[in-house]
Amino acid sequence: MPRRVLLQLDCDPQPSTFDAVVAVDAGVDVLLRHGGVTPDNVVPLVHGAMFTRGGADLAATAIFVGGSDVAVAEEVCRRVSATFFGPVRVGVLLDPSGANTTAAAAVIAAARHLALAVDADPAAERVAAVVLGGTGPVGQRVARLLAGRGAAVTLVSRDRDRAAAAAARIGQARPGAAVEPLAVADFERDAGGVLSRAGLVVAAGAAGAALLPRAIRERCSATVYIDLNAVPPAGIEGIAATDKARPDGRAVCYGALGVGGTKMKIHKAAIARLFSPDAPLLDAEELLAIGATV
Ligand SMILES: NC(=O)c1ccc[n+]([C@@H]2O[C@H](COP(=O)([O-])OP(=O)(O)OC[C@H]3O[C@@H](n4cnc5c(N)ncnc54)[C@H](OP(=O)(O)O)[C@@H]3O)[C@@H](O)[C@H]2O)c1
Repeated sequence: MPRRVLLQLDCDPQPSTFDAVVAVDAGVDVLLRHGGVTPDNVVPLVHGAMFTRGGADLAATAIFVGGSDVAVAEEVCRRVSATFFGPVRVGVLLDPSGANTTAAAAVIAAARHLALAVDADPAAERVAAVVLGGTGPVGQRVARLLAGRGAAVTLVSRDRDRAAAAAARIGQARPGAAVEPLAVADFERDAGGVLSRAGLVVAAGAAGAALLPRAIRERCSATVYIDLNAVPPAGIEGIAATDKARPDGRAVCYGALGVGGTKMKIHKAAIARLFSPDAPLLDAEELLAIGATV
């Protein structure tokens, strides 16, 4: 068996050290790291990965696409896939800003406590989910995955146009996804209604951004709260980063570190999965499926 080579293609100027370390820990033998990757310069890099190894040996080469700009990383990923032909292809993992692995881990946590529709009676009521900070890379993927599992999602932003644009992007990627945008300037006034009906609240705001005050949470009906922000103050007041299914009244709470263990398992399992003859393309939905097995 030839050595496992992973081509790390990062759209930021410097390739992520986090993604590099995870790749090594996931069993990659040789890591080739490239920063500043764009849709316009990626094809020669892919050719180098496609044409060097023949037959079954090609499965020992794979590609990771990362970076902080999700839209650019998605376009790079499209160019990578379009460069393949016939059996001349390798496995590809798309995880810009850790958005796919983190969102998959959050949805796995929620599904431990909520009968998301695809698990339950199709006639059952949809779980109402609210994604705070829903316009960021992680929030958009959380919203997309929850909608794919049958939840009725409200995607919250401080800005109406950003909320609408994010919901529209999800609708384009996954037609039929039930994602409603909501602009919130004042939580009590603007979000009280949706929060009072929600079964699940996920906070995916920027690091250190306090989104949901305790006083408002105490009037919410949700049974699961997930705060993905690890940097104080908490995104959902009263949730600690280490919370992992911590009971709080009739609800359970998860913090960023409580979800982070599953995220790391998904990330490593996904890299291992790349080195297979079927040359998979792993985006959020495939990572959610992997998450169910880790
Ligand atoms: N647990 C893990 O393993 C893990 C892994 C990766 C990331 N994370 C965390 O997940 C969270 C989301 O990551 P991301 O990259 O998607 O975040 P992001 O792009 O930095 O921010 C997400 C959204 O937060 C809102 N926001 C920004 N500043 C704010 C402020 N001061 N007050 C209120 N809202 C604000 C913005 O939405 P609007 O401007 O539209 O309101 C923004 O689109 C972060 O806290 C990150 O640290 C956790």
